[in-house]
Amino acid sequence: MSEIAKLSFDGNEYEFPVLEGTENEKAIDIAKLRADSGLITLDPGYKNTGATKSAITFLDGELGILRYRGYGIEELAEKSSFMEVAYLLIYGDLPSQSQYEYFSNQITTHTLVHEDIKKILDGFPSNAHPMGVLSSLICSLTAFYPNSLDPNRSKDEVDLSIVRLLAKMPTFAAWAFKNKMGHPVNYPDNSLDYCSNFLKMMFALPAERYDADPVVAKALDQLLILHADHEQNCSTSTVRIVGSSQASIYASISAGINALWGPLHGGANQSVIEMLEAIKADGGDSKKYLEKAKDKNDPFRLMGFGHRVYKNFDPRAKIIKKAADDVLGKLGVSDPVLDIAKELEQAALKDQYFVDRKLYPNVDFYSGIIYRALGIPTDMFTVMFALGRLPGWIAQWKEMRENNEPIGRPRQVYTGANERDYVSMNKR
Ligand code: ACO
Repeated sequence: MSEIAKLSFDGNEYEFPVLEGTENEKAIDIAKLRADSGLITLDPGYKNTGATKSAITFLDGELGILRYRGYGIEELAEKSSFMEVAYLLIYGDLPSQSQYEYFSNQITTHTLVHEDIKKILDGFPSNAHPMGVLSSLICSLTAFYPNSLDPNRSKDEVDLSIVRLLAKMPTFAAWAFKNKMGHPVNYPDNSLDYCSNFLKMMFALPAERYDADPVVAKALDQLLILHADHEQNCSTSTVRIVGSSQASIYASISAGINALWGPLHGGANQSVIEMLEAIKADGGDSKKYLEKAKDKNDPFRLMGFGHRVYKNFDPRAKIIKKAADDVLGKLGVSDPVLDIAKELEQAALKDQYFVDRKLYPNVDFYSGIIYRALGIPTDMFTVMFALGRLPGWIAQWKEMRENNEPIGRPRQVYTGANERDYVSMNKR
């Protein structure tokens, strides 16, 4: 017999079923609340609202657990590859050898994009932020593959859209960067693995031979794994809610890219490095900035600290911190900005303000440092995040469609003017 939650209001008592997930988290199913009692729930920022049942990613913010389809992030980061993790997230289980080969081969052979997309790229000024370029190019796929406009077509067609997204995103991301640099774009090299191909499209120059450093390609692959999904965050919820109107998968993912862009979400990795550089330019006094972050009259926040769900530590931050040390060591990079980051981290972890509010470094605190060491410019950091998050967005979109979820449509408590008569203010 399932548990019941009771609500007393205005002399009446209402009962609601309590659902339990596979990791024992419980939720009150309030779907009938309004019909029964006339009430709605109010939860700005959806801090305590479950929007869906999902079998993709489990995370426990208190215990610092993150698992994709049941596999711990630590094990996946160490033993798996981004391609395999993408398959796992999207299709639910680890691929067999032949499934893996088919999947990665499909992605490798769809990397090329229609030449007309270059015309769209050419229309952007070279100072355009690469996130805006990326979301526009992804959305433009609706025009090149109009079948995708109907997400209810056959499974094979949906699978083809998924392959196209995973295959073309690195091409678009690298082209967004080339646009910024004013360089000619590079075409994909299908003899290379996912990350080496991306690095080559990013960094190869027409007059020079370019071979991606395997250390860099491996570090990038691990970073993408760490970012691959994070259950119902801002961008993922955006993808699901746009997809819930039965918009094309390309439009839904494009919306997710835009949601990720902001500094309180994926844009934080760019903001972290900008913050660290500003501290360096201001004499490197990290304590001064710690005080600014604590001052309620100062809008400054310590970027890369705090998380909506992780309230003890971010398990990705632990892995990435080690990766940052490894990569910088192997590449022989010594970065004064990293020293400031370490000082700031140590000081904040001991500071009562941060301890009381359970504010710890999140994944973005370190990812920017690695991207910088890899030679990736600051305004491409969030694009790198989007590249990593893509399989998660796809998996969440696919799950939402397969569960035939209703259109997302929250309610509100109206606080505006009551009905009033129209009196023209125009004296003419
Ligand atoms: N620096 C200083 N104070 C902070 C910080 C910070 N980075 N983060 C939270 N606080 C304080 C708030 O001022 C608030 O204090 P109060 O209780 O005295 O008013 C308290 O901690 C709780 O903060 P909220 O903003 O209510 O927490 P919320 O869960 O809504 O926000 C968020 C989480 C957006 C991540 C926030 O911690 C933040 O802005 N961090 C900096 C940006 C960042 O790193 N974002 C990346 C998130 S991870 C990701 O998207 C991959």
